Amino acid sequence: MSSAAIQRAESLIVSIPDHPQPGVTFRDVMPLIADAGALRAVVEEMLRPFAGQYDVIAGVEARGFVLGGVAAGLAGKGMLPIRKEGKLPRPAGREEYALEYGTAAVEIQADVPAGTRILLIDDVLATGGTLAASVALTRSLGLEPVGITTLMELDALGGRSKLGDIPVHTVFHE
Ligand code: PRP
Repeated sequence: MSSAAIQRAESLIVSIPDHPQPGVTFRDVMPLIADAGALRAVVEEMLRPFAGQYDVIAGVEARGFVLGGVAAGLAGKGMLPIRKEGKLPRPAGREEYALEYGTAAVEIQADVPAGTRILLIDDVLATGGTLAASVALTRSLGLEPVGITTLMELDALGGRSKLGDIPVHTVFHE
């Protein structure tokens, strides 16, 4: 994959000020996802460091489902959704995490055997709460999270420090 393709992909991410609330800048990756060449280039780069190390990809709702589905297809692996609470018909695990105000939770089904090696995928690593809870959730089912890969990391928020010693790879830093 060419660095030109990756640079073009980065140019397709749009920052939206004051969304979803005043003071927050939302990184809209949908224009990148809508571009076939950019989408393939970034997903290949997200997978690159973890080749041969995972059995299944776990995508975090919602944009992690899109990237995770593409990644699973490219890698020839299955995809395990990590969903916001209340959506799955057969949740086998639940993990809460802190939001700025209150808490949220993620859930997962036991649709792959204990010991399965999991690569977690999401679009953005911000405060790290969502991915830290997602890692804990996979461990609670006896799965083996081997890495985290994201499209973007907002370095100033320090989310990586919440993730322990699991390897984390990010395509774009901001
Ligand atoms: C965004 C993003 C990550 C999470 C990162 O999801 O897609 O999943 O926030 O934030 P954190 O590192 O501070 O936990 P969002 O909460 O917007 O939910 P959505 O994907 O369901 O829209």
